[in-house]
Amino acid sequence: VTDSWVDCDPGNDDVFALLLTAHSKQIKLLGISTVAGNQDVKNATDIALMSMNLFGLIHPTNKTDIKEDISLSNFQNYGLECPLVIGASKPLLKNNFKASYFDNYGLNSLNIPLIPKSVREYVENLNSKFHFTKLMYDSIKNNSKKVTIIALGPLTNIALLIINYPDVINYVEKIVIMGGAVGFGNVGQISEFNIKIDPEAAAYVFDSGLPVYMVPLELTHTALITPKIQQAVKSLSNNYSNILSRLLMFYAPFYKTTYQMDDPPLHDPCAVAYVVDPSLFECRLFRVDVETMSSLSYGQTICDFYNETEREKNVFVCLKMNVEKFWDLMLDAIRSIGQI
Ligand code: BDR
Ligand code: CA
Repeated sequence: VTDSWVDCDPGNDDVFALLLTAHSKQIKLLGISTVAGNQDVKNATDIALMSMNLFGLIHPTNKTDIKEDISLSNFQNYGLECPLVIGASKPLLKNNFKASYFDNYGLNSLNIPLIPKSVREYVENLNSKFHFTKLMYDSIKNNSKKVTIIALGPLTNIALLIINYPDVINYVEKIVIMGGAVGFGNVGQISEFNIKIDPEAAAYVFDSGLPVYMVPLELTHTALITPKIQQAVKSLSNNYSNILSRLLMFYAPFYKTTYQMDDPPLHDPCAVAYVVDPSLFECRLFRVDVETMSSLSYGQTICDFYNETEREKNVFVCLKMNVEKFWDLMLDAIRSIGQI
């Protein structure tokens, strides 16, 4: 079992990544943090809370008095399986950042069990009392085992965590990120979204000394949402199949137009799958640098594929995944929705 912290910007595929994390017996979830990326951090936090509720990470409790003990370690009393930490609202250096406002899917209008008021208040109070890096640091440091960080959005939170608490790297086993590309990107020609939003943060994390595992676009583009997968989500016998189908197919028009792909990929759960079962993956250690200067290739992850530099190798790049087994894991999790 891998003790894991998930940093995310839900989102679309992030929601399925949270589902896989919640469902997998190989992962002990220590906490979730949100970051500005696909959504602003407030929307991302709302969608993370709704996902937690939907995937059995929030339990009903009788607790009514929320004023007593708003401390990090008290999350279970509020019915939470793990703390939810509200992270950075903008990248490290960019002042003019605006999250790509994908619609919020009308999640509020769905028949998703309401998030108890006490849970919302606990999350809000906890986060207004302490800086998010302190909450992350305390959870990670106080854990009995080293922690794996799974990062599914821009790397702002993780960079700030290491900047504010440099010794945190002693308590982290590795960081597995969905992000980057060996070749072409998906924002502009050459950069991948998560890295492009905050290249300075990514550059910092890649050279932090932490073991970094990067799940790039080349790999996630093999995890295709075929009609069989779409059908499995559509035929879920509960209220959530509509909204989950919409989330699942969100990128379909973009991938059809830009990449001529009939079936869109499901990015973020691939990084979770690496933590669930690394034997499904082939990874190689490379020197990877993030371009932070050039306006044309800002946010590019430059992988020294042919070992041309003597600079120290710093990133395990995941190049291949057993796609069939990946979908076995994912479908198992999808079918469990509503049955938890
Ligand atoms: C990444 O960007 C986001 O839109 C997805 O959630 C994923 O993390 C893919 O480039
Ligand atoms: Ca994401």
